[in-house]
Amino acid sequence: MAPVVSGFSKLSKADKIKWLAKHHFNDDQNAVDTLVTYWNSDEGLQQLHDEFTENTISNYYLPFSVAPNFLINDKRYTLPMTIEESSVVAAASKAAKFWQTRGGFKAEVLSTIKVGQVHFTYVGNSEKLQQFFSIVKSKLLTSASHITKNMEKRGGGVIDIELRDKTTEIDNYYQLHCTFETVDAMGANFINSCLEQFAKTMVTEAKEYHSFSTPEKDIEIIMSILSNYVPQCLVKASVSCDIKDLPSTTSLSSLQYAKKFVRAVRIAEVEPYRAVTHNKGIMNGIDAVVLATGNDFRAIEAGAHAYASRNGKYTSLTHAEIQNDIFTFSIKLPLALGTVGGLTSLHPLVKLALQLLEKPNAKKLMEITAVAGLAQNFAAINSLITTGIQQGHMKMHLMNILNQFKATEGEKKQLIKYFETNAVTHNEVVTQIEKLRA
Ligand code: MEV
Repeated sequence: MAPVVSGFSKLSKADKIKWLAKHHFNDDQNAVDTLVTYWNSDEGLQQLHDEFTENTISNYYLPFSVAPNFLINDKRYTLPMTIEESSVVAAASKAAKFWQTRGGFKAEVLSTIKVGQVHFTYVGNSEKLQQFFSIVKSKLLTSASHITKNMEKRGGGVIDIELRDKTTEIDNYYQLHCTFETVDAMGANFINSCLEQFAKTMVTEAKEYHSFSTPEKDIEIIMSILSNYVPQCLVKASVSCDIKDLPSTTSLSSLQYAKKFVRAVRIAEVEPYRAVTHNKGIMNGIDAVVLATGNDFRAIEAGAHAYASRNGKYTSLTHAEIQNDIFTFSIKLPLALGTVGGLTSLHPLVKLALQLLEKPNAKKLMEITAVAGLAQNFAAINSLITTGIQQGHMKMHLMNILNQFKATEGEKKQLIKYFETNAVTHNEVVTQIEKLRA
């Protein structure tokens, strides 16, 4: 077991690696070499990455891929996608190509309201607290004007502060439930700074409020923090076409395809076991764009799954229907994204990704990202109800298996050819490699 270490963050990068090698890798030079191999030779660039977080000792690569042919609101986009899963980008590209000849994707931002809360304890008469709040509300807002000034210039700011009585759930528990417009910023720092200021002002003002008794004057702030649940920061995307323009095979007509597709989505609407995987597939597309554009995919994930459970049961984020021979497939979900602040002007690849998307504002990025999720879901369901998922998945995974077995370029060429007409399974790949090498 490694010993307790203090002051680790103060060590140089070389000394951190030395410490790791000694206590975790038995001084194995290979471990050190692996870490060093991934350093960037451009020292300035490496330093930029080192300073993103504490204790950076190397870089962790993910593929930066692109999916072309996305027609969104009549404009063509090439989407940047950062994801390791072999088949995701191919699936997105395939869906984009399919829909670009059928009117493309339509997308629309429905609302952009963000939320933050000050959670506090107040021991006393709740009507008195309500009176205090109505007097002090404008003071809370003005006390944060040094924070909100710039945001207001850009068209955003604090929308409202509401006092919420939560004492039926926890004794003496109240909230300032605050709503914000953060325009093109994701807004986490802005919201948290405002909330902390509201909390401070409220505590000070309570101490001086003449109607409060002694315990009532002592409001205790438990915490001030934004919420990643943003059901009023919503975007919708959809595709639709005549049923006869849907895929068909010898065993499945376009109409049968449409009905099977709708039924597959319906299953995800009623069955949580399926809904989680269904939505996971949606997040394959969403996270890939979110990550490539320097946004916080954990926040997006948490918010999306909470939204999928908004009616008390976890359900699909997409919906499909047939009406008057028209097939429509849509997605609605919250996406609190930013195109300024955070990594957006720091990480060279994030800057490039935003350039690739022609420098979208936050609303446009919400639309593009929702489309990525819908396209991914379309591709997944299309495979699931026709060939099954493994055919495409294993084709893309073939290269990973070949690399795992350190296949040479020559071996790869022969095996890729072989698997054009044979089903890819891990066993079959191993058998074929062994055969080649025998
Ligand atoms: C795999 O990453 C995602 C899928 O399982 C999604 C789905 O089942 O809809 C293919």
